[in-house]
Amino acid sequence: MSDPLPFERPAAPEPVAERAAEPVAERPLGPTGRPLPVLPEPTPLTQHGNARVISMCNQKGGVGKTTTTINLGAALAECGRKVLLVDFDPQGSLSVGLGLNPHEMDLTIYNLLMDRTVTLDEVVVPSGVPGMDLLPSNIDLSAAEVQLVHEVAREQTLQRVIQPAIADYDVILIDCQPSLGLLTVNALTASDGVIVPLECEYFALRGVALLKTTIDKVQERLNPKLEIDGVLGTMFDGRTLHGREVMERLVEAWGDKVFHTVIRRTVKFSDSTVAGEPITSYASSSTGATAYRDLAKEVLARCLDG
Ligand SMILES: Nc1ncnc2c1ncn2[C@@H]1O[C@H](COP(=O)(O)OP(=O)(O)OP(=O)(O)O)[C@@H](O)[C@H]1O
Ligand SMILES: [Mg+2]
Repeated sequence: MSDPLPFERPAAPEPVAERAAEPVAERPLGPTGRPLPVLPEPTPLTQHGNARVISMCNQKGGVGKTTTTINLGAALAECGRKVLLVDFDPQGSLSVGLGLNPHEMDLTIYNLLMDRTVTLDEVVVPSGVPGMDLLPSNIDLSAAEVQLVHEVAREQTLQRVIQPAIADYDVILIDCQPSLGLLTVNALTASDGVIVPLECEYFALRGVALLKTTIDKVQERLNPKLEIDGVLGTMFDGRTLHGREVMERLVEAWGDKVFHTVIRRTVKFSDSTVAGEPITSYASSSTGATAYRDLAKEVLARCLDG
């Protein structure tokens, strides 16, 4: 594989918080080829609020955005964080993945965006996971993309409507649709951070340059605080040379932005979607559930605690 890297190395990779109990060189290498950090156990919170808003973003379809939103959210809720998930995809997969019927929703994020008389409290529903709520969506949201074009401050609409939730939750995760259109720009404008799930196969690296350009533009023009919280390798198969090579490329390009946790390929994720619940409850001791709990610890250490 001699292609040039399709994106630039980030200027200053941020180190993951590490408790250096043992010298780095003696720690076992993780699936990303780097020594695994020793992460602190998440501490219980005494009060909630001042949520960090994080978008799951990649314009490529089927890379694990929705799966990551549900399962990272559920794992953070297990750590005692109050979590709000925002389904910002007209496909409504996040809502369906949590057991909702798209035809039986009274109010969705579409109503919240387009009707100023609708309040956040009227649209939020429990997700079935203790400590985690959901702003649901269905196909109605596809109309918002067209209608928002005519609005004043059209890129800031999502930011405005989720503002009241910031004081109540510790983290808000937005599941983006596979496009870089106006809905995704709204999600990025409303966010403090972005997590980029990337399927660990070679063609997944193509298109990331465009995503990086979009993130940079939003940061420059609409939301200076926006940062990339991390790049997550999904559907990883460490038994193949191909999988390991792609992982090497990711680390070369993104340095410490790449999460040490990788999500391996397993059918348990599709099974849990059919069951309408996160893998952390559907198959609580599976490798998939463990991986998302590890990711939650990494996200807490990297950008939520401290
Ligand atoms: N680690 C994994 N191993 C195996 N299958 C997975 C894994 N992660 C997700 N899947 C499955 O792959 C499919 C796509 O995942 P998901 O819906 O999370 O991707 P997405 O990026 O949200 O897709 P879209 O762009 O269409 O919104 C789903 O059927 C899901 O169950
Ligand atoms: Mg999705």
